[in-house]
Amino acid sequence: MAPIEIPNAVIDALRHARHIAVLTGAGVSAESGVPTFRDAQTGLWSKFNPQELATREAFARNPKVVWEWYAYRRARVEHVAPNAGHYALAEMEKRVAQFTLITQNIDGLHERAGSRNIIELHGNIRRAKCFAEDVPVARWIDDGQIPPRCPRCGAYLRPDVVWFGEMLPPSALDAAFRAAQTCDVFFSIGTSGVVEPAASLPFLALRNGAVVIEVNPDATPFSASATLHLAAPSGIALPRVVECAWTADVRWNTARESG
Ligand code: OAD
Repeated sequence: MAPIEIPNAVIDALRHARHIAVLTGAGVSAESGVPTFRDAQTGLWSKFNPQELATREAFARNPKVVWEWYAYRRARVEHVAPNAGHYALAEMEKRVAQFTLITQNIDGLHERAGSRNIIELHGNIRRAKCFAEDVPVARWIDDGQIPPRCPRCGAYLRPDVVWFGEMLPPSALDAAFRAAQTCDVFFSIGTSGVVEPAASLPFLALRNGAVVIEVNPDATPFSASATLHLAAPSGIALPRVVECAWTADVRWNTARESG
């Protein structure tokens, strides 16, 4: 692969940024071994029908199948580790006054890598909530029933993720829009940019004067508008970005998760 060139103007923008906002999608976790959604051979939606697994109607029709599919995915993400891209973003957060990480991912890998100011637009697969009352449930009795039941009202529990046709959590969405409007530099990383409202965020940042950097081996609907498109895997491009912008004092530690 050709060396990743980062123009001086972009390095300058990074060094002087007061607020960096980042949007991530499934691609940032691909190098950890978590499948993306839309990649032709390996994407989840090339193998599974989202209408049968990721909607309220699907859960109402077949709660056991839906719960088990998410339990399988949860077990998978628990057995993978953050990669160099996740760690580079955690490192970036330490180097800028304000840093907002907006993720569409539900795998929790950014937090495990040490990122702190995270907005989860699509929820988190490690959490559950009540299907009837929509409130988070931290603990329940595991008596072998699948799905387990809400300890308060007895309804089924469901994964605390956003399904097709559902609203995104309003406070997360507000915070994401605010970050895109107020940041100096915005990254769009590992997302195909076809799912709204996340897909609008890089355009919004651009309209508000931010330098917008896309990291994705493939082109997306946003690529032609980006200030800079780094056509490389995020596990390679992001450490390079941090190295170029904040140089030699960066010590990479991708072997150990930070607490
Ligand atoms: P997609 O599967 O649509 O897109 C993944 C993107 O990551 C593609 O553009 C790939 O080219 C890129 N990619 C692959 N490997 C990469 C790597 N190593 N480094 C950087 N980029 C890489 O996933 P999302 O855009 O995240 O929603 O999908 C958005 C939403 O659609 C998901 O949150 C999910 C899905 O339906 C819900 O479940 C609500």
